[in-house]
Order: sequence, then structure tokens, then C-alpha cells
Amino acid sequence: MKIAVTSASGKLGASIVQHLIQDIGKENVIGIARTPARAEHLGVEIRKGDYNNREDFEEALQGIDTLLLVSGMDEPQKRIIQHRNVIEAAKINGVKKIVYTSIVGAEKGNAFSPIVQTNKQTEEDVIASGLDYVIGRNGIYIEPDLEYLETYIEDGEIRNCAGEGKCTYTSRQELGYAYTKMLTEEKHNGQTYNLVGEAITQTQLADYINEVYGTKLTFKSVSEEDYLAERQAALGDFIGTIIAGIYQGIKNGANDVPSDYEKATGSTHTTALKMIKAYKNKN
Ligand SMILES: NC(=O)c1ccc[n+]([C@@H]2O[C@H](COP(=O)([O-])OP(=O)(O)OC[C@H]3O[C@@H](n4cnc5c(N)ncnc54)[C@H](OP(=O)(O)O)[C@@H]3O)[C@@H](O)[C@H]2O)c1
Repeated sequence: MKIAVTSASGKLGASIVQHLIQDIGKENVIGIARTPARAEHLGVEIRKGDYNNREDFEEALQGIDTLLLVSGMDEPQKRIIQHRNVIEAAKINGVKKIVYTSIVGAEKGNAFSPIVQTNKQTEEDVIASGLDYVIGRNGIYIEPDLEYLETYIEDGEIRNCAGEGKCTYTSRQELGYAYTKMLTEEKHNGQTYNLVGEAITQTQLADYINEVYGTKLTFKSVSEEDYLAERQAALGDFIGTIIAGIYQGIKNGANDVPSDYEKATGSTHTTALKMIKAYKNKN
């Protein structure tokens, strides 16, 4: 069985490729990347695939049985077309199964919702393809918070508009394991899984970070308006609005969802505290 993974140059794609290699051997794993040179370190065959270019995927998906489609990074409306390029090329090439990395979140009501809507549209497109499918709805990665740690330390606080809202964080490591099961085990076909860990507040997140890193962070809750303005000033309108929208969603409960991780993997999702410890040990 040949399994291909798109966006293999990215952190999630690379994690899935690495888990797959352990499970089915590197000769059965193909990485597809817009920038192949960035994926060569994975030690598997790498083929070129830019989501904007359907011809890339018509070639890259030759001889592939199962495909892992990592959701794109572009503006919402562009993503739908980009994902369709990959799905159509999969159909033409006789790919038997698609596994898609979607997202947890509210389809309405916050500035992240347009992204969630496009992920849901691709879920529908994957289902309509007629191929076997499995959909994973990823929780928010915990790693970006830890990459941001220096800024949190400088500020002495984690500051956002999530209030007391709970978030089911996950990690690319946990997701790599889950997607490998979903790709290789037939019993998941036709399922949609929330791939998330335990639900924690921002105060708990600060406490866990303090426990692992010996910091003294507190959580400061700010209004949605102030946080949006701050993020737009720091990151620009597009990304700033998305980030503010994610925390609006957390505040309103969009990321406090039941976990299907055990159904997908047969084992429990690791705790937030352990994910933070694992990140510290690796970096
Ligand atoms: N759950 C979460 O918290 C969360 C957070 C951020 C993003 N996401 C979603 O999860 C996806 C994967 O995350 P990640 O951690 O792997 O992100 P990442 O490390 O930033 O990697 C992004 C990947 O997208 C690829 N890419 C961008 N535009 C492309 C295009 N037109 N055609 C093909 N590939 C393209 C990049 O390729 P190059 O190497 O060529 O740039 C790179 O491989 C993201 O794309 C996004 O949809 C989820």
C-alpha cells in the first residue's frame, strides 16, 4: 500500500510521514510538497505538489492508494479550490481513500469562522468524492504557545480574550500518531473524529507552563475588541484577525468539544502537561 502525504515540508505533514515510516516502512510513504527541497530530510520519495496546480497532483498521485490531504494555509476562498484540485486529481488517479485534516471550531460567530467554513466545505467535497474517506478535526496545536514563550515571559503574562473558555489542545506529535492509524486501518472509513486532548482554560495553561519551565506567568483576560486591535497591530490584518477569532471561539466554547482520539487510535490523548514537557525536552 502506497500512502502519500501532502504539505510534507510542513510540521504536521512531516510528523505524519515520520509516524507512517515507523508503521509501514519508508518505501511505502511518499511525501508531496510545494517546495520539495524542504521535505527531503524526511528520507522518503518526495514529489512536487502545489495546491494551486492540479497538474502537479495529477502526476504526484500516480500509483497512490491512500492520500493524506493537509489543509492549506491560504485565504478561505482560495483553499476550497486548492483542496478540490487535489481531490479531483486523486479521483483521476484511482486513489482509493482520502484522509483530510480539518479543524475544530465554530462555523459562525467569530473571525476564525470563515476558515472553519472552508474546512467544512472541503469535508463535504471529500465525502462527495465517492472515495473511502476519514476526516480528522484537529484541535488547536499547543506548540505555538510554547514557541511564543519568550514573549509571554517578557510580558509576564499570557494575554488574550479567551476568558474562562476551555480549549482542547493537541500537538502535531499526537496528530501524527492518530492520522497514521486513520490512514492504515479500514475500520475508520466513513468516520469524522475530533482529534483533541483535555479541555483546559488559559489559567491552567499558564499554570502548566509555570510548572514545566519554572516561570511565573499569569493569565490576563482582555476584551475581544482590545485583543483584535493588539493582534492586528502586531501581525497584520489577515493573521491578526484569525488569531483573535480563535480566542473568541475559545471564549464562546467552540473548542470545548468531546474527544474522539481514543476511537481513532485505541489509546488516550496525552495530557496538556505532558505535551508541554515533551516540547521542552525536544527543544
Ligand atoms: N490546529 C491548529 O492549531 C493549526 C494551526 C495552524 C495551522 N493549521 C492548519 O494545519 C495545516 C498544517 O499545519 P502545519 O503545522 O504543518 O503548518 P506549517 O508547518 O506552517 O506548514 C505549512 C505547510 O503548508 C504548505 N503549503 C502552503 N501553501 C501551499 C500550497 N499552495 N500548496 C501546497 N502546500 C502549501 C507549506 O509548504 P512550503 O514548505 O512550500 O511553504 C508547508 O508545508 C496548516 O496548513 C493549516 O491549515 C492548524
